[in-house]
Amino acid sequence: MSNIIILGAQWGDEGKGKIVDLLTERADCIVRYQGGHNAGHTLVVGEEKFVLHLIPAGILHPGKTCVIGNGIALDPQALIEEIDDLAQRGIQVGENLKISDSCHLILPYHRAIDKESEKQKGTRRIGTTGRGIGPAYVDKMARIGIRAGDLSHPKIFREKLSQNLQEMNYLMEKLFRAHGFDLESLYAEVMTQGERILPYLADTSLYLWEEARKGSSILFEGAQGTLLDVDHGTYPFVTSSNASAGGALTGTGIGPTMIDKVLGVTKAYTTRVGSGPFPTEQTGPEGERLRERGQEFGATTGRARRCGWFDSVAVRYAARINGLTGIILTKIDVLDHLKTIPVCTGYRIGTRMFTEFPHHIEDLENAKPVYEALPGWNKTTRGIRRWEELPKEAQDYIRWIERQVGVPVIMISTGSERSETITLQEPFPASE
Ligand code: GDP
Ligand code: IMO
Ligand code: MG
Repeated sequence: MSNIIILGAQWGDEGKGKIVDLLTERADCIVRYQGGHNAGHTLVVGEEKFVLHLIPAGILHPGKTCVIGNGIALDPQALIEEIDDLAQRGIQVGENLKISDSCHLILPYHRAIDKESEKQKGTRRIGTTGRGIGPAYVDKMARIGIRAGDLSHPKIFREKLSQNLQEMNYLMEKLFRAHGFDLESLYAEVMTQGERILPYLADTSLYLWEEARKGSSILFEGAQGTLLDVDHGTYPFVTSSNASAGGALTGTGIGPTMIDKVLGVTKAYTTRVGSGPFPTEQTGPEGERLRERGQEFGATTGRARRCGWFDSVAVRYAARINGLTGIILTKIDVLDHLKTIPVCTGYRIGTRMFTEFPHHIEDLENAKPVYEALPGWNKTTRGIRRWEELPKEAQDYIRWIERQVGVPVIMISTGSERSETITLQEPFPASE
């Protein structure tokens, strides 16, 4: 038995989906614990590509149970579309999916408020995915959220919806000067969606605890990344949940003593989607080249991702915040074209040097990265599966990251396919 958290150590899109899909072979349950369909996790299996938003990346493997934990913000419409899309492609979602009855629902007014409030922010907009994530978590914290379990109590659901609409419609009409929502039609719409969702609802905290006691192995699949965490990320340019390791506990109802390992996924360079500081960003041709070679376009919104060099200040910070026990380094092949590779070792802010990640947004916005230039390998690493086959310079690059971050690199991804992976240390013990 081994319970492992896999999470993003940067600003998201590190390749978590590929890694979770790969490691699912050795796991029994795969659990999403925070975020919602703002996530886009890509799995490539042969010629086929799947992009999952809400359903855990273990779903392609028969015989495994996928769980949507209580920490998720669940848009019923998005979930139904994802289930139907998978079914069309021959992947059945039935008994193999369990959804916490305590998940907070994302309703159409959350999406509308997300979009309107972004418009109002003007140049200080966050660049959200427009999926209603923030407003749904606002309601959760304000204790007016509607939970998945409420769908099985139509009277209570209707009362809550009616009360919330008074507030939401006031916001929509008076503050945003937009259309409000009609109670009757919204009630009917969500109740119809509820019929599809109810069969999946369960006490997932209890389920996971029982599974763990039976000796099952559980994979916790993070969404977004540590620097987008609402507490530890580049606030306010973050998402509205805890993408770091703590979220795996509060978002599932599992205690910390049940976690064996915390693995951070990081690219061999850095990307970010949306607004906010990004010290090592390359806005010129070098960033453009990384975007092209890495196909850095959002899996959820299709937006071009901002690209830049590897930032060891940021990843070392993620190692500390999450208590990382191992690093999974992805997309090393994207750097194959470079003769030398700049890597960031610290920030200069005004006259001061920083080797720890600053908390204040203004410091980060003014941070000038200090670079070291490492030799590139300038040959292909695409699809390499054995450490010995990596060029010496690529090995040195990986060892440099390991030293800077202070955590061992246990897997290296050399392509988007499952098989394009080097495993240095098997995350699950050999006996399993
Ligand atoms: P996630 O949100 O962390 O699951 O990552 P995304 O799926 O949004 O973005 C990662 C992208 O990189 C996807 O298109 C993957 O197929 C792709 N990918 C993952 N690992 C590698 C790799 O090692 N090399 C290359 N070239 N692509 C990769
Ligand atoms: P995965 O799981 C990268 C970013 C958005 C925006 C900020 C807030 O695929 O790594 P939100 O809609 O969450 O309120 O937007 O967070 N963001 C992501 N960036 N990968 C993601 O997910 C993201 N999910 C949200 O671009 O900057
Ligand atoms: Mg993604």
